[in-house]
Amino acid sequence: MMWLGSFIFLAIVVLFVSATTVVDLSFHKLKKETFFVRMQSQYNHLKGVTDLNLKGNEFDSFLDCSTNLENLRTLDLSQNHLVRFFFLCKEEYNLQVLNVSHNKLEYIDDNAFNDRIPKLKILDLSFNKLTVVNETMLQYFTVLEYLSLSHNPIGDGIHESAFWNLEALKHLDLKNISAPYFSSVFFKTLTNLSTLDLSWNPIDTIPLLPINLQELDLSGTQVISFEKLYLPKLRELKLNYMSNLTSFALNDLENLTGLEILSMIGCRRLIQLSLWPQLGVVLPRLQHLSIKECGLETLDIELRALVKRTPVVELDNNPWKCDCKLEWIGLLNSSRNLSRDIRCYAPDQHHGKLLAEIPNYELECEYDSSILYPILWTCLSLIIVFLIIAMIVVFFKRPISQWSFKGKNGDTVTYKNVIESNNDLVRILAVSEAHERNEE
Ligand SMILES: *[C@@H]1O[C@H](CO)[C@@H](O)[C@H](O)[C@H]1NC(C)=O
Ligand SMILES: *[C@@H]1O[C@H](CO)[C@@H](O)[C@H](O)[C@H]1NC(C)=O
Ligand SMILES: *[C@@H]1O[C@H](CO)[C@@H](O)[C@H](O)[C@H]1NC(C)=O
Ligand SMILES: *[C@@H]1O[C@H](CO)[C@@H](O)[C@H](O)[C@H]1NC(C)=O
Ligand SMILES: *[C@@H]1O[C@H](CO)[C@@H](O)[C@H](O)[C@H]1NC(C)=O
Ligand SMILES: *[C@@H]1O[C@H](CO)[C@@H](O)[C@H](O)[C@H]1NC(C)=O
Repeated sequence: MMWLGSFIFLAIVVLFVSATTVVDLSFHKLKKETFFVRMQSQYNHLKGVTDLNLKGNEFDSFLDCSTNLENLRTLDLSQNHLVRFFFLCKEEYNLQVLNVSHNKLEYIDDNAFNDRIPKLKILDLSFNKLTVVNETMLQYFTVLEYLSLSHNPIGDGIHESAFWNLEALKHLDLKNISAPYFSSVFFKTLTNLSTLDLSWNPIDTIPLLPINLQELDLSGTQVISFEKLYLPKLRELKLNYMSNLTSFALNDLENLTGLEILSMIGCRRLIQLSLWPQLGVVLPRLQHLSIKECGLETLDIELRALVKRTPVVELDNNPWKCDCKLEWIGLLNSSRNLSRDIRCYAPDQHHGKLLAEIPNYELECEYDSSILYPILWTCLSLIIVFLIIAMIVVFFKRPISQWSFKGKNGDTVTYKNVIESNNDLVRILAVSEAHERNEE
């Protein structure tokens, strides 16, 4: 009965402190029956409530009719057991924020999202059991700015035009919705979208994205190609836990000219990070580069200019091989002393040491047999081929001069080496010669 006591206390607070417009009834183990019976007895006093927090209770449905929520602007029904909810009883609500995340919603009733709540700005539907977002579900939300559908098993259940009316949308969260792809038309009307989260979906290609995007999260996807990514306003790109990424060329991001933060954390199979010289500076505005917990053994010296001008570079927890190829990092004239972040994994004598602790003369490169052998073999074969050619030239010098080839007029061909007894061959030669003559 503790909760009932506190509930009554809170209700009294609402009753007497007329300035209070916030009612917080979160985590009171409230069932809808108790709530609605209680609330109805105070029907008129709820009129002024603008902010109703019912988070963490035991509602299995919510119907507006039993309360008088005329001025309600924020309704938090998250972490309940909601299967459905309705907005039925007033012509129009002032509701701006609705949080129904962490519930048991499997579908959205036509009487939940309707033209009665056209002022909705923030809608959180995350952590439910939705499998479909059809073309009519979100059609009335023309001023909606924030939408989260994350952690629902939607799969390919989003209709092509599901988002088309959401022209004011700025923030869209589609994390972990089991989507195998995102259609190229999904986002076509979302010209105001600035934050998009597509992480933890089994997609392998990047869909067509809204041009004004500022933050993009592709973590946990299977994308390996970043070519043609053209997002000049993008400030932050997250490529964490990209399990299929083995090599990555920063040149692929050349059209992200506004990028300030690039993070690649936990890309365990990433063993090669490159940047080849090209016209124009790649990522000219980069402020923060994180490549932690990946599979990098070494860092190409081509990255020096980029590393040098980037204020924050994090390279911890890669299996670094401390040899001559990493020497340039220690020689970087920077106050950040990057070599303090680099803990060597190989070779054995440096295992566990910081790069900064190893004197330059100990950063040795073994001859890399995997490169050396092919080079040796190529040289050797070239020499042999050359010798053979030379021998042939010397050996056949005379015979060649005895052969006289068909001249421009084509009528002085002689074949001294044709064995006379082979009549067939002679005939063939004669025929083909005649044929050529006919052609002339
Ligand atoms: C909705 O509620 C959940 C859980 O109570 C919370 O984590 C989330 O941040 C809320 N959403 C918004 C948009 O405030
Ligand atoms: C969309 O889904 C709702 C139920 O969630 C249904 O009532 C409505 O008819 C559907 N609309 C279309 C166009 O299929
Ligand atoms: C994605 O959702 C599933 C349940 O639907 C959950 O088991 C998994 O941990 C989630 N993954 C992430 C990265 O949140
Ligand atoms: C990503 O790797 C997994 C196995 O690790 C594989 O099944 C999947 O096909 C790969 N995806 C792509 C796009 O290469
Ligand atoms: C390194 O930086 C210091 C000042 O921080 C400067 O005096 C010095 O010339 C720089 N050396 C090189 C090689 O750039
Ligand atoms: C590295 O930076 C730390 C501060 O972050 C400083 O205390 C330390 O002296 C620096 N070491 C070298 C070798 O410059």
